[in-house]
Amino acid sequence: MQNIIDQYTSEIKAFTAAKAEELESFRIKFLGTKGIIKDLFEQFKTVSSDEKRTFGKVLNQFKQLAEARYEEVKEGLGSATADTKSDIDLTLPGDGLEVGSRHPLSLVRNEIIDIFKRLGFVVAEGPEIEDDWHNFSALNFPEEHPARDMQDTFFIRKGDKEQGDIALRTHTSSVQVRMMENGKPPFRAIMPGRVYRNEAISARAHCFFHQVEGLYVDENVSFSDLKQTLYHFVQELYGEGTKVRFRPSYFPFTEPSAEMDISCTICKGSGCNMCKYSGWVEILGCGMVDPNVLENCGIDSKKYTGFAFGMGMERIANLKYVIRDLRLFSENDVRFLKQFQTEII
Ligand code: DAH
Repeated sequence: MQNIIDQYTSEIKAFTAAKAEELESFRIKFLGTKGIIKDLFEQFKTVSSDEKRTFGKVLNQFKQLAEARYEEVKEGLGSATADTKSDIDLTLPGDGLEVGSRHPLSLVRNEIIDIFKRLGFVVAEGPEIEDDWHNFSALNFPEEHPARDMQDTFFIRKGDKEQGDIALRTHTSSVQVRMMENGKPPFRAIMPGRVYRNEAISARAHCFFHQVEGLYVDENVSFSDLKQTLYHFVQELYGEGTKVRFRPSYFPFTEPSAEMDISCTICKGSGCNMCKYSGWVEILGCGMVDPNVLENCGIDSKKYTGFAFGMGMERIANLKYVIRDLRLFSENDVRFLKQFQTEII
């Protein structure tokens, strides 16, 4: 036994390794579960009790030597690989981090919010899953109004039961109702959000899109306040000199109601594909909040009046960036999105 130990002691002392595999072989040979040291400890069990003291000591020292040498060589090998064996060239320039870009709808939404914030409007939000009351009834939709038809609205069934009165909101006007029900006038808010309609998806229609609703309720609010507010908004968004015109229209929740056109942002009114050669493009619906709606929300319609408006964000973005296919907004094609690279502050 002593002979074997002497022989291996010089081998261990002389051991060096150029590669990790050599070190691993050393570990297996001496320190492994079937290695020499394990074997020597097995033999040690058979040594007579007189010899046990001396041999025990020799054996332990031998084991410590092997372990220490293993650690030493491992350390040397580690720093050698880092310095010379690595194929990483630290002098190469790193990969640049690509800066993301904002979605065109976010750009438009933020711009709209900015403009109205400067006029003292706050931002409000409401749920996308709505009940009949907030989406239709409180907004003065008659019971048999075609907009409640299955064609337009995604109704939600409760379990196996019959179709309930829960639906995906078809417009952000529902947020007006929630706001007025839960507060006291004056109200001055814009409400951006996603809305849903039961439409086949094509370049010109989608089953979801985005709207921004506006509401201003106070004493003595008039139609001229509505016109001036929206006129200012358009000058800010599309530039000074953009013309506006109001056409009479109908919405159940406003009386009188109007649709607002602006002079075409692409051809400046001279006629193009975008404005179908009319020089005008429609951007929103608006009107004076119907007294029935105010009363439905617990607001005294003798004391308060208000105006409201609603616009499609995709339309606003289209007139800014000429995005002709609605599907592009939701497909997340990076080639499309990258075109809206903005400075990140
Ligand atoms: N909710 C209407 C729609 O989805 C848009 C609208 C029109 C909103 C007139 C209004 C409004 O607040 O006054 O088509």
